[in-house]
Amino acid sequence: MKNLVVLSGAGMSAESGISTFRDAGGLWDTYPVEQVATPEGYKRDPALVIRFYNERRKQLLDVKPNGGHELLTKLEKHFNVTVITQNVDNLHERAGSTHVIHLHGELTKVCSSKDPYNPHYIKELKPEEYDVELGDLAADGSQLRPFIVWFGEAVPQIETAIQFVSKADIFVIIGTSMNVYPAAGLLNYVSREADVWLIDPKEVRVDSFLKINIIRKGASEGIAELLLRLCK
Ligand code: OAD
Repeated sequence: MKNLVVLSGAGMSAESGISTFRDAGGLWDTYPVEQVATPEGYKRDPALVIRFYNERRKQLLDVKPNGGHELLTKLEKHFNVTVITQNVDNLHERAGSTHVIHLHGELTKVCSSKDPYNPHYIKELKPEEYDVELGDLAADGSQLRPFIVWFGEAVPQIETAIQFVSKADIFVIIGTSMNVYPAAGLLNYVSREADVWLIDPKEVRVDSFLKINIIRKGASEGIAELLLRLCK
């Protein structure tokens, strides 16, 4: 079977009712990114940051995977599929995708404030534990922090992602403005022979010598078209 690698972003979950970041009215319009998505913001006001992610986490209980997430799982019948997502929600997994790499962390997990990527202290929360409070501690005695890769932090999963991208026969970009690195830089590892697709209702500027097949549609309609075109 051919290797098909997806790079998804916030637009993938838009039809589930989760806001994107950079569209008008997006999350970064309402919450300053420096406040809620940087280590400095967390140091300055941990309670506010913990509350912000508690709200995002609780939203997971009210949303469902959309048709796009579901159609992606159908591709697994025809290809070896790896989903590399910038999203911190769990909608790919809930739809049934079996191989998902989260580049920017996961809302359902918490970790140590001192040593965030030490797997020893990373903990998956059950829904009844979604409300983390100041004073809830990781096993190393530090405050439990959201398991999110903030701006200015390293992206530990990027090396694994590069391995899969460089072996992709088909590479599909869905719902990302390709503004955030190193995620957007994954395109540089796609082979010249690969078949490359981009699904987004808006124009996305990408800096690449590759020929890209554009499907100017939302995720569920766009992935339905992709399925038709790949699995004729
Ligand atoms: P953006 O908000 O930058 O981009 C969202 C993209 O989704 C845009 O290109 C939209 O046109 C597109 N879009 C909107 N509705 C869509 C739909 N129904 N179907 C398909 N596409 C749609 O989000 P990302 O590129 O994911 O990081 O942002 C990357 C990272 O920046 C995020 O992971 C987050 C953010 O800051 C962290 O929080 C660390």
